[in-house]
Amino acid sequence: MNTTSRSAARSHHSSIVTAGKARGAGALGALLLSLSAFGCSEALDAVGGGEEFTSIYESDQFQTCSGCHAPGAPGKVNGTEATQDWSTQQTANSSLQGTASGLIGNFQGCNGVPFIGPSAEQSLLVAVFDSDVRQNFENSQFPSCNGDAITDETLRLGGDLPPSLLQELKDWIDGGS
Ligand code: HEC
Repeated sequence: MNTTSRSAARSHHSSIVTAGKARGAGALGALLLSLSAFGCSEALDAVGGGEEFTSIYESDQFQTCSGCHAPGAPGKVNGTEATQDWSTQQTANSSLQGTASGLIGNFQGCNGVPFIGPSAEQSLLVAVFDSDVRQNFENSQFPSCNGDAITDETLRLGGDLPPSLLQELKDWIDGGS
């Protein structure tokens, strides 16, 4: 496999790289073929991607995140959550597997908390959009990351996420993100 096809494959998903190797496929074309043979969601789910995430990432609402949550983003100020990188779908995927950082003041109790918890209800990424999840949020290792410390990110959107999009986000997480 040459370097170009390997990095192109990695930008999709590591198991596709494996699939490509297993078939001894060297060409990007063969990898793409194996991608469609797999079905995207099956092939991509393990690292937090998949068709569900594509649809979330491409929504108008989630397209705005990179205006602040990306290296060098125009809207980034001191105290902006700094781990998330919404520049591309791939960086969004991988950064969402991490934990919150860079929060200050009232919000600093959530530094270190995973964006994606064991379920949607236990996920900081959901808590910022769903006031019930926010009020009930509990992480025993981070007791101060509660409804008072978690920001309401719908304020950045000028309103709630459309219910169907919020549900998509929850389903993506509960489905193993
Ligand atoms: C206008 C800039 C801006 C935009 C756009 C924005 N954010 Fe934020 N976000 C912030 C800031 C600043 C913080 C830190 C907390 C605060 O000051 O309210 C934050 C915090 C967060 C946190 C951590 C919350 C906590 O309190 O622990 C998450 C998760 C988050 N944002 C997700 C998102 C997502 C997802 C999007 C896109 C739908 C988004 N944000 C859009 C500025 C923004």
